[in-house]
Amino acid sequence: MRGDRRDGDRRFSGDWRALVSLVPYFMEFPLRVFLAMGFLIAAKVATVLLPIAMKHIVDSLDSSANPVLVVPLAMVLGYGALRLATIIFGEIRDTIFGRVTERAMRRIGLKVFKHLHQLELAFHLQRRTGGLARDIDRGTNGISFLMRFMLFNILPTLLEIGLVAIILAVNFSWEYPLIVFVAVVIYIAFSVVATEWRTGFVREMNAADNQANTRAVDSLLNFETVKVFASAPFEAAEYDRNLASWEQARRRNRLSLAALNIGQALVVSGSMTAIMLLAASGVADGELTLGDLVMVNAYMMQLFIPLNFLGFVYREIKRALADIEAVFALLRQPPAIMDLPDAPPLDISAGAVRFENLSFRYVEDRALLDDFSLELKPGKKLAVVGPSGSGKSTLVRLLFRLYEPDNGRILIDGQDIREVTQQSLREQIGVVPQDTVLFNNTIAYNIGYGVPDAGMDEIRQAAAAANLTTFIDQLPDGFDTQVGERGLKVSGGEKQRIAIARMLLKQPPIMVFDEATSALDSASERAIMGALDDLAANRTTLMIAHRLATVVNADQIVVMRDGRVVEQGSHQKLIEADGQYAAMWTLQSEQQLPESESV
Ligand SMILES: Nc1ncnc2c1ncn2[C@@H]1O[C@H](COP(=O)(O)OP(=O)(O)O)[C@@H](O)[C@H]1O
Ligand SMILES: [Mg+2]
Repeated sequence: MRGDRRDGDRRFSGDWRALVSLVPYFMEFPLRVFLAMGFLIAAKVATVLLPIAMKHIVDSLDSSANPVLVVPLAMVLGYGALRLATIIFGEIRDTIFGRVTERAMRRIGLKVFKHLHQLELAFHLQRRTGGLARDIDRGTNGISFLMRFMLFNILPTLLEIGLVAIILAVNFSWEYPLIVFVAVVIYIAFSVVATEWRTGFVREMNAADNQANTRAVDSLLNFETVKVFASAPFEAAEYDRNLASWEQARRRNRLSLAALNIGQALVVSGSMTAIMLLAASGVADGELTLGDLVMVNAYMMQLFIPLNFLGFVYREIKRALADIEAVFALLRQPPAIMDLPDAPPLDISAGAVRFENLSFRYVEDRALLDDFSLELKPGKKLAVVGPSGSGKSTLVRLLFRLYEPDNGRILIDGQDIREVTQQSLREQIGVVPQDTVLFNNTIAYNIGYGVPDAGMDEIRQAAAAANLTTFIDQLPDGFDTQVGERGLKVSGGEKQRIAIARMLLKQPPIMVFDEATSALDSASERAIMGALDDLAANRTTLMIAHRLATVVNADQIVVMRDGRVVEQGSHQKLIEADGQYAAMWTLQSEQQLPESESV
């Protein structure tokens, strides 16, 4: 289902500047570029000499001009050598130049990858990863295509046409190059116009292909839903509807290609006929030899072979340029969150965190936080509770500087997090997120992710503290079990415990738990709380929780509602105050139903 998926309306104009952006990458190996050019010219010269060798062979065999007949051995051997040279030189050129292309692809691939990780979360949330990966893929392929065809097809063909025109003009009369020139101009003009006309059909075909493909992928991603709703026949019918329009678009595309090919054939055979007429009458008049006729014929054949690809190459080059331009446009997009020049690393001594008068909104017209302030005392545990959607996880994202507040600031030990490097900030805060997504790798890899040099013993300890040992021991592959894409092969509760083990291993000075035990059953939760309390001793901890039972022992509890702090104090104080917290507490105490692991 792959194939070309040029998004219909990306405009081509201005894409030629992508070519300029590529130049620095190709200047990395100037000698190779230079040598490749040399071999390219050598191969073309050999190609142009071929018909001349042919002429001499024919003339020496022509009895009317040459009564003593001998096989012109040297000539034939020379002809063979020239043929070999055209191919060998071409291969050498490709070999030498391949390195340049590969290096450019690697450099640009890495640059894009780094850049993507630098871009802010908001960018990634609104962008579809699948589409992004295709853009990059197409861009790097475009580079390789462009090099092969721009340098090794279009330019040499133009060079060849020039050489042939000169040879014809010198050896014969001015009519020959004139016919060649006119034919080539008509041919190119026709090809370009017809190709532009055809791009409409190609786009239609790609759009249909894209749609059928998106539909199929989405359907397969939702495999489980399709199964349990028994809607496979519906999905198939929908897919076939998409395929039908793709089929039709493809047919139109095929017919237009036939029209293009026939038009090109008309130009080629018309000009060939004209030239042969001219040459044949030259031979009849005795002005030209038979060899001359053969030579002219060979030139014409030779010239139109590369031109035959012109329509294809023209379209593909434009497409490659557009693909490359898309990648460079991505690279030009500046990250919204950047380190200040010369920002120092964050220096944590005590671990005090202050949210000061924060205002924040994700979208216009909907303020989420408004003049929000909160203070985490060094080494203490602060709990934030509140209804879903009140902005609790948003606090975590702001603390990690995944988003910037519109107003106010966040201080860690007196340092504004905007004035230190993002790297040092994130290295020293740990989080167990609300939704853990795992890497498609082993359990051990996922636990050890934050600490690259962690040994297996440490990983085992962390897993034990996170109450994972029983689970892992019963797996046939133990710690080497693959968790599947996004961790879909382990349950929600297991995922959460893996994330907790990851944090236990990292042991950062500041820790954040965002509903870290929401998917655990009470027994499992109680088993882990002990380990977490040990770790939290002397570390500044922000604990976001839904179940109040997990926060009763926090030093300070903050009740949040609609982006505002509505109550705060210790558990005892809040119960005595008999406000919202007390009400939530009563409600939850009444619901002490037996719980089970929910996800
Ligand atoms: N990237 C986003 N773009 C727009 N709105 C968002 C985004 N992320 C969260 N929200 C909205 O902001 C509100 C607060 O979200 P969040 O902080 O995750 O709440 P919670 O208190 O449940 O953790 C929610 O109403 C949510 O829909
Ligand atoms: Mg949340």
